Amino acid sequence: MSTQKSERRRPLISGNWKMNHNHFEAIQTIQKLAYALNPEDYDHVDVSVHPPFTDLRSVQTVIQADDVPVALGAQNCHWETSGAFTGEISPAMLAKLDVSYVIVGHSERRELFGETDEMVNRKVDSVLAAGMTPILCVGETLDERQAGRAEAKVAGQIEASLAGVKAEMVAAMVIAYEPIWAIGTGETATSADAQQMCAYIRSLVLAKWGSGAAESVRIQYGGSVKPSNAPELMSRPDIDGALVGGASLVADDFARIVNYRLYQA
Ligand code: PGA
Repeated sequence: MSTQKSERRRPLISGNWKMNHNHFEAIQTIQKLAYALNPEDYDHVDVSVHPPFTDLRSVQTVIQADDVPVALGAQNCHWETSGAFTGEISPAMLAKLDVSYVIVGHSERRELFGETDEMVNRKVDSVLAAGMTPILCVGETLDERQAGRAEAKVAGQIEASLAGVKAEMVAAMVIAYEPIWAIGTGETATSADAQQMCAYIRSLVLAKWGSGAAESVRIQYGGSVKPSNAPELMSRPDIDGALVGGASLVADDFARIVNYRLYQA
């Protein structure tokens, strides 16, 4: 299923800072980003930044004080609200800081920190219950792609990570397709391959949650998105946004990605 990017789906460009920028650097980066973007740059696009936990309060303060139209995001959370979970951060704590989006199930969390689909499913539920929007990451390894198992891997992740989630919730959330071999490697999926998988993800949502959810769910592409490739990726009908790692650390580069429309043919 391939739909025209409709009015119903506002593109979302998200900057995942990963474990970069202390809180002083974070303040500088959000201030530079605010300076690099004009009010009209946000007319057709939503923008979120996802700093490390230790920066959230600082970035929130800048966003509020200067009225910056950028949504605050987090990179992860635990599924419980509170309790004896040393080192964890709850969705309720994030919501209290005006966090709007939480990245859930990033491949680095899955691969380096042992997150399973079942854990990701609990996180999706708890982020939704706290009134925030999950950005659910899915994607295949190079081996899986070469073995022709990319779609099966992504289908399994969607099925398990969104088990029990109601259609109206799926409609409001974000799914990020991030082929693992393209993350931080400089290798980008071709825009045709990215489009194909994003359309496939939409068809999975259609089959399980119906046309309302399929038409509304926003599907991002992530993996070495840069100012140079964002315009083409974003021209594809089923790619509704980008989850940007490395290039989001530099405010001017990220601003150019947000402004991808200006560079489209
Ligand atoms: P990258 O990271 O843009 O540095 O490849 C993307 C991501 O991991 O979200």
